[in-house]
Amino acid sequence: MSPSICVTILLLALVPQSPASASINNNNGVAVAAPSVPTATQFLQAHNDARRDVGVAPLEWNSTLEQDAQRYADRLGIGCNGYQDGAAVTASWVNGRRWYDYRVNACAPGHECGAYKLVVCSTAQELGCARRTCRSSPDTVAVCSYFPACDYNDRPY
Ligand SMILES: *[C@@H]1O[C@H](CO)[C@@H](O)[C@H](O)[C@H]1NC(C)=O
Repeated sequence: MSPSICVTILLLALVPQSPASASINNNNGVAVAAPSVPTATQFLQAHNDARRDVGVAPLEWNSTLEQDAQRYADRLGIGCNGYQDGAAVTASWVNGRRWYDYRVNACAPGHECGAYKLVVCSTAQELGCARRTCRSSPDTVAVCSYFPACDYNDRPY
């Protein structure tokens, strides 16, 4: 079974930029942000906080999934429109909770909550996420992979 993938096109307006990052330069001279908390920890904690809120067991980090997510993120040529660290991007996904109606298992019309459903999917036991910094700017795209895969049409819990 292939992992479920969640991709976000980052909307900076949703979540304020993290004040707790420092700028460093990588080999290409592109400014990237060094998160004060490791990226894996940020993604994992933010996921597990949201899961605890609805009584779903926590995820564990899986570096194979992380590599999958990184490969996927590296292929994405679009969506580089805002810098967010792992905690902030997960928060923007969890934000979809307000639009999710558990009773009918649907997002409110005109609103997005699919990423939230993956964050709290009880089938998944493992998580791997990655971000990619754009060449032309310090903006990022983020990808998370979940295993075992979640059936997107089912209730997540
Ligand atoms: C990590 O996830 C992969 C799926 O991509 C799975 O095959 C593997 O068993 C997992 N590794 C561990 C240590 O659970």
